[in-house]
Amino acid sequence: MINLKTKIPGPKSLRILTKLKAKNGGWGVTYPFVLSSKGKGAYCEDIDGNVFLDFGSQIASNPFGYNHPELLEVLKAYGKRTPIKFAGQDFAVEEHLKMIEELTSITPRNLDNAFLINSGAEAVENAIKICMRSRPKTKVGISMERAFHGRTLGALSLTNSNKVHKKGYMRLPMLRLPYDESAAEHLETILATEVYPDEIGFVILEHVQGEGGYTPAPKKMVEDLRKITKKNGIPYISDEIQAGIGRTGKWWAFQHYNIVPEVFTSGKALQVGAVVANHSLFPNEAGAISSTWGGGHILDLAMGLKTIELIKKQKILQRNERIGQYCLKALNDVAGISNQRGIGLMLAFDLPSQEIRDNVLLECVQNGLILLGCGIKGIRVIPPYIVEEKDIDTAITIIEKAVKTCSVKKFKHRGKIYDFLHCGRSHA
Ligand SMILES: Cc1ncc(COP(=O)(O)O)c(C=O)c1O
Repeated sequence: MINLKTKIPGPKSLRILTKLKAKNGGWGVTYPFVLSSKGKGAYCEDIDGNVFLDFGSQIASNPFGYNHPELLEVLKAYGKRTPIKFAGQDFAVEEHLKMIEELTSITPRNLDNAFLINSGAEAVENAIKICMRSRPKTKVGISMERAFHGRTLGALSLTNSNKVHKKGYMRLPMLRLPYDESAAEHLETILATEVYPDEIGFVILEHVQGEGGYTPAPKKMVEDLRKITKKNGIPYISDEIQAGIGRTGKWWAFQHYNIVPEVFTSGKALQVGAVVANHSLFPNEAGAISSTWGGGHILDLAMGLKTIELIKKQKILQRNERIGQYCLKALNDVAGISNQRGIGLMLAFDLPSQEIRDNVLLECVQNGLILLGCGIKGIRVIPPYIVEEKDIDTAITIIEKAVKTCSVKKFKHRGKIYDFLHCGRSHA
């Protein structure tokens, strides 16, 4: 249950956040509390003893919430060993193989190899690298308007959701397609006027856009793009870092569209970054792709393996679809919000303006509900997979009240809370 014992941020949190703000290179969007290791299910506790309901799931990377007993067992099993970080692309551990086997067991059959790496952005980097390596005439890559694929320089070139991510950084040569039914027509024009098919390294897209606005792709857009990329032999990459591992009610968001990409990426809920493709697409020269900690942190691999096992054992895909529908229906009845959307437990809604969105986020945190922003004026609703209907009811009540409070003309938040939460303008 939500239980707020202090003002937010509480005194212990405030002390740490103030120091962190001064010392942390690249101050971002830290929420106005410091998490303790306590918490249960969808609820987390801060170091001041405040309990929050978490509908942000550590930006979709915490699918089983806080202190899940079976995940705690995994930690216990590894608790007494060092090292836990191996140079995994050079020195093998069994978990590496098990993860690749599990991952390829939940993917279309021809995607039979996986490369593991530290983060989502690095997964994207390596996805585009293997495509380019297999296409030596590559001149450009293609991504979508409002896409988010990460912040390393290669991935950042594909990203198009917010210019604050990009200011001052050099880019790879990219062309962009609109994220709507006209995308295929634009691609045809590019092929007719700009470049030959073998000069396009890849087309990359999220089948539900994440940071850029939580928008599910139109069916026709995906079908048409897939047809053209197939016809022209252009590798099609599905970025599943936010939407994958069951959040949308299927293992991978592309499965809602009955297509199979040449490559897809995973991360976040998987606990480790991954590129999945057919064996033939990976470079066969040693060292072409690697990283010291690539192969995955052994604990991340073990937690990711348990995550996949729990999803299978507890029939989470069906559960996410069902409970997602419950949540979407409840959101549809909330006054003052619009464009309620999403698939499974990857949901969002819009407020009338960015300012109201920012204030609603703050107001919800102040009342014990953690949400994340997206796009220009959107809010994500991404609870952990173990969320109960009664937790959704609690969240909806808080959202309803917050929207009402913040919709009053000239409403403005003041005080310490505003110093720390910059309202979800730069999440991932
Ligand atoms: C679709 C997508 N791709 C790539 C990334 C980058 O992942 P990471 O933040 O782990 O580098 C994100 C992160 O939010 C994402 O949502």
